[in-house]
Amino acid sequence: MNYHDLYQESIQHPAKFWKNQALQLDWFKAPDIIVSDDKFNYNQWFEDGQLNLSYLCIDKHIKDGFGTQNAIIFDSPVTNTKQHITFNKLHYQVSKLAGGLQSLGLKKGDTCIIYMPMIPQALYAMLACVRIGVIHSVVFGGFAPHELAIRINDCKPKAIITASNGVEIEKIIPYKPFVDEAIAKADYKPTNVIVFDRELGVEIPKKDYDIDYIDLVEKSPSVAAVSLESTHPSYILYTSGTTGTPKGIIRDTGGYATALKFSMKYIYGLDEGETFWAASDVGWVVGHSYIVYGPLLNRNTTILFEGKPIKTPDASTFWRVISEHDVKVMFTAPTAIRAIKKEDPEGEMIQQFDISCLKHQFLAGERCDVATLTWTEEKLKVPVIDHWWQTESGWPMVANMVGVELQPVRPGSAGVPVCGYDIQVLNEEGHEVAAGVEGFVAVKLPLPPGTLTNLWGNPDRFKFGYLNRFPGYYFSGDGGYKDEDGYVFITGRVDDIINVAGHRLSTAEMEEIVASHKLVAECAVFGVHCDLKGQKPLGLIVLKSDVGLNEQTIQKEIIQDVRHEIGAVASFRDVLVVQRLPKTRSGKILRKLLRDIADEQQYNIPSTIDDISIIAEIRSVYQAQNIGIYK
Ligand code: COA
Ligand code: AMP
Repeated sequence: MNYHDLYQESIQHPAKFWKNQALQLDWFKAPDIIVSDDKFNYNQWFEDGQLNLSYLCIDKHIKDGFGTQNAIIFDSPVTNTKQHITFNKLHYQVSKLAGGLQSLGLKKGDTCIIYMPMIPQALYAMLACVRIGVIHSVVFGGFAPHELAIRINDCKPKAIITASNGVEIEKIIPYKPFVDEAIAKADYKPTNVIVFDRELGVEIPKKDYDIDYIDLVEKSPSVAAVSLESTHPSYILYTSGTTGTPKGIIRDTGGYATALKFSMKYIYGLDEGETFWAASDVGWVVGHSYIVYGPLLNRNTTILFEGKPIKTPDASTFWRVISEHDVKVMFTAPTAIRAIKKEDPEGEMIQQFDISCLKHQFLAGERCDVATLTWTEEKLKVPVIDHWWQTESGWPMVANMVGVELQPVRPGSAGVPVCGYDIQVLNEEGHEVAAGVEGFVAVKLPLPPGTLTNLWGNPDRFKFGYLNRFPGYYFSGDGGYKDEDGYVFITGRVDDIINVAGHRLSTAEMEEIVASHKLVAECAVFGVHCDLKGQKPLGLIVLKSDVGLNEQTIQKEIIQDVRHEIGAVASFRDVLVVQRLPKTRSGKILRKLLRDIADEQQYNIPSTIDDISIIAEIRSVYQAQNIGIYK
């Protein structure tokens, strides 16, 4: 079937379409009810079905005779390690760790935080949790203890699974000490902390709540996967919102499994047994869906890469991994390509490897600029597919469904709507706009399976943030437009969220931290263009009078505060002191104007501005500090 017919079928007959897809899975009890509404009139999938993600990712493949196939290839240039982990070995590790969790009292419906670097034990931990119905919440390692403490308080984990350390290029990151600090800060105290000692030669302080990961696995019985309702939450994944408090996206079990299995075949074009590589981190949604669950559900070998696109050891590392492990489809963020291109502009390092195994290169996580797309196409000589999605959706909403039919690639566009997503661009009043006109990107309900089902402990925020803005639609928070042929162009967030190196961050959260510095009278934090990372945060501060400290000291303190509270991943490195900030006559700071002055040659000056002379002041500060277009 061609793309257009398949897409139309999914929109016109969603229940029939997704029932057929769901039946590709090995359910413990196949669903009779396909789509139903919850109390918000929001759809749920396969309500009366029963299944288990860990079973589908592991046991099923062993049962089908593929126990000796590689499930995971762990490639860690930062520790000089390579490991091939078969489905049989994965089964051993996961079922015994699940037994260990049970022996510590964890049971269906409990939560467990996983704060781990990119090592196989992170995947074992996720799969062990879902094996027994424990809801995991993986927290990205670049977040500081304070952020971890916020998540501990919110999801109240019975246990935390962590590792002694992570390795960032050459830096050792103290994971376990960060967990200890977070627990000390949090009001809620988990009972156990399971620690995998990586034996990297760094002394780790012991606490009473510590449990040794290896000991626990060795002494625990292997347990079978339990039968779970399709609607049972498989995980909570926190993501940045427009306030300082992150949102806990809840993912179900049956809808998610159905969507991921579908996406591996129809979007990424993978057959069972082939190798797939998502160069992301298990702490992000890309890691959940396409390092762990998607490939394993589809019996693809997944690459777990503990390294960076450059410096581990150089810009050839991606091509080495593709060639060595026979990667058929790869997924990374445009930032990674930009980093490689900077080091190796002519792509000469690609020639050192035979990458003829690669059939498609996918990009996502941030807007893909045309120069990056074109360079990648020219150098890799395969179709390069931008695609758009979010933590909330869990899987792509706009793409080029290469597994169905490759559509012509249009640079600048993230592609066409994926089956199940009725993507519409709306104006302020909620009416669909004409082709070429920019508006708010929304999805007409019902959403397909696999998308968020609610926010952990905060259904009102879920309803208010996603469903109320345009009744009958899910609002994505992104702006964009469609062309005459239905290709979707995403222009960026319409809220306080920025995307730094493919990492989603809240400027509102950074602003709260900057504003709390005792010498700051007022401030604004917003994202400005960055050639490498797409965007970077910039803070403007107005100081209280008679501060008594020099400006540089204050700037350093503020940068340190953000790093300490949010973490290194915030990449908050620029703070400028200004005399005043542009405001509307009613006193609202004009953050978009501040960003536009930095990034654009021509910009609109809002008619509500209270004093237009401030624009020249801001421009001269940017000029003096080489910000944005004044570089
Ligand atoms: N654990 C601990 N710290 C982490 C971390 C992790 N998992 N990931 C990043 N950090 C730290 C970095 O070490 C860095 O710390 P520093 O300020 O002490 O140097 C900081 O967070 C910022 O990291 P990053 O934004 O990654 O910048 P970088 O300069 O270290 O690297 C790139 C630049 C382009 C190489 C890197 O951003 C990259 O690989 N980007 C691709 C991103 C990606 O794949 N995103 C996937 C989302 S789909
Ligand atoms: P996250 O939830 O971390 O995956 O971030 C989702 C956000 O990243 C989206 O709302 C977009 O703003 C942005 N994004 C992701 N993929 C793309 C893409 N292909 N093009 C443009 N923006 C993207």
